[in-house]
Amino acid sequence: MTGTVEGFKRRTRRAITSQRQPTVTVLSCLLAAQDELGYLPDEAIEEIATYTGTTTNEVWGVASFYTNFRFTPPGEHAVEICWGPTCHLAGAPGILQSVLDLLGLSGEGETSDNRISLKYNTCLGACSQAPVASIDHQLVGRLSIETARGLVGKLKAPDATR
Ligand code: FES
Repeated sequence: MTGTVEGFKRRTRRAITSQRQPTVTVLSCLLAAQDELGYLPDEAIEEIATYTGTTTNEVWGVASFYTNFRFTPPGEHAVEICWGPTCHLAGAPGILQSVLDLLGLSGEGETSDNRISLKYNTCLGACSQAPVASIDHQLVGRLSIETARGLVGKLKAPDATR
């Protein structure tokens, strides 16, 4: 992944100019840029402002309104733990606490080495297999604390692969 200022600008421009929908908005550009880069660095905000003829303040205003946008790089691996009602009843609180302890986190966020991003989810859409987690975008159901710790523990290892 190119992380230079010019790289971010070039990739943002490519992402926002290749949108297929007929109506291109600041929001659609933000979505396209985050899909491409994984987050929204300053360079992406500036590029979107230039492309849409608005100011960076206006683009920030839209981006900061939505909780799904992130402004710091995501971790190398993505872990989402469902804590929706069905998963909650099926044991999600214990799984979540166990994973937090394993990662040395007190809530959502990145591990100190930026290896793992942890997010909570209110429903991963697989309630019949509760409790559920998403590990690098793969759903895993009927989790136990031991299984969750094992899967997340593998991601912590230096040779963990995607
Ligand atoms: S509540 Fe957890 S998958 Fe639906």
